[in-house]
Amino acid sequence: MVSIPETTITSSDGRRSIPLIGFGTASETEGGDVVKAAVVEAIKVGYRHFDTASLYQTEKPLGEGINEALRLGLIKSRAELFVTTKLWCTSTEGHLVLPAMKKSLQNLGLGYVDLYLIHWPLKLNQEQFIPPIPKESIAAINIKEVWEAMENCVNLGLTKSIGVSNSAPRIIEEILSIAKIPPAVNQVEMNPLWQQRKLNEFCKKNDILLTGYSPLGGYNTQWGHNHVMECDVIQDIAKSRGKTPAQIALRWIYEQGVSFVVKSFNKERMKQNLEILDWSLTEDELNIISKIPQQKHVYLSGAMGDPSDIIAQLDVDLAFQ
Ligand SMILES: NC(=O)c1ccc[n+]([C@@H]2O[C@H](COP(=O)([O-])OP(=O)(O)OC[C@H]3O[C@@H](n4cnc5c(N)ncnc54)[C@H](OP(=O)(O)O)[C@@H]3O)[C@@H](O)[C@H]2O)c1
Repeated sequence: MVSIPETTITSSDGRRSIPLIGFGTASETEGGDVVKAAVVEAIKVGYRHFDTASLYQTEKPLGEGINEALRLGLIKSRAELFVTTKLWCTSTEGHLVLPAMKKSLQNLGLGYVDLYLIHWPLKLNQEQFIPPIPKESIAAINIKEVWEAMENCVNLGLTKSIGVSNSAPRIIEEILSIAKIPPAVNQVEMNPLWQQRKLNEFCKKNDILLTGYSPLGGYNTQWGHNHVMECDVIQDIAKSRGKTPAQIALRWIYEQGVSFVVKSFNKERMKQNLEILDWSLTEDELNIISKIPQQKHVYLSGAMGDPSDIIAQLDVDLAFQ
C-alpha cells in the first residue's frame, strides 16, 4: 500500500493533515455501486483523501464505501480519512448554507467532513445544471453572508475546515478582509495546460493550499478534454522516462507544491496514479513543460457557456494566470 505524503491546513483544531493526493469522485456515467466499489478499492491501495460534492451525487456511495472499508477492517476509524464536499450554487445564500451542509452529511452518513468548499463563487437561480446555463440564471453572491454561514458550520463542528473553489484572488481577498476563519483551500483546475502559476503564488502567500482538480484535464469526460493526455510534450517525456502521460502530468502537479485530486474508478489506473512518488522530473523536463501554451478548458469553455460572460460576472480572472 502506498503511503501518501501530507501537508497541513488551517482547521478548527489549529492545523490538520491533508494527504497531498486525493481521490476524485465526479462521474456522469458510473452508478452508485461502481463508486462505492471504487472507494473501497482506493482505500485498499492507499488513498485517504476523498473529494465529492452535492452536485456529483456521489456523497452517498462515498459514505457507503467508507462504511464498507470500516467493516472490512481496511481502516480502523473514519478519522483516518480526509473527506471534502462542496456547497452547490443553488445554496449560496446565508440561510441556505447550514441546511445544505446537513444534507451533505446525511448523504455521506458522517458526523463531520474535514473540508467544506464553496463550489463556485456564484449563485444559480435554477436547479438544473445542464449547460449552457442561461445568463439570467447566474447571479453574484453575497460573499460576507455566505462566508459567515460557512464559519458557522465550523463552529457547530460539522466541518473541520472551510474553503473555496474556482476562486480568483479578488474574491479570496474579500473573504480574508471579513473572515474570522480564513479559507484553508482553493480548489481549481490545474494541469500542465493550465498551470496556475500566479494563483499558486498568491495562495502560498496567504497560507491557502491550492488543490488542483482535473489534473489529467478531465480526460474522456463531458466537462473536460483530452489535450493534456494527448499533449506532444507530455507524451514525449512519458516515452523517454518509461512512464504514462498521466504519471507525467500528475508528477508535474505534485512538484508544484500543491495537492491534487484525480479520479479513476479503474483498479490499475488508480494504482498507477499513485506511482509518482519515488522519481522526479528533471530541470529540463520542467522547463519544457513550463513553456506549454496555456489554455483553460474545464467549465469556462464547456459547461458554462461563453467565458467572457463568466469572467465579467463571477470574478474569475483569466488575466491572473
Ligand atoms: N471544484 C470543481 O469545480 C471540480 C471540477 C471538476 C473536478 N473536480 C474534482 O476533481 C476530480 C478529478 O478531476 P476530473 O474527474 O475532472 O478529471 P481527471 O482526474 O483529470 O481525469 C479523470 C479521467 O481520466 C481517466 N483516468 C484517470 N487516470 C488515468 C490514467 N492513469 N490513464 C488514463 N486515464 C485515466 C478517468 O477514467 P477512469 O475512471 O476510467 O480511469 C477519467 O475519465 C473530480 O473527480 C472531482 O472530484 C472538482
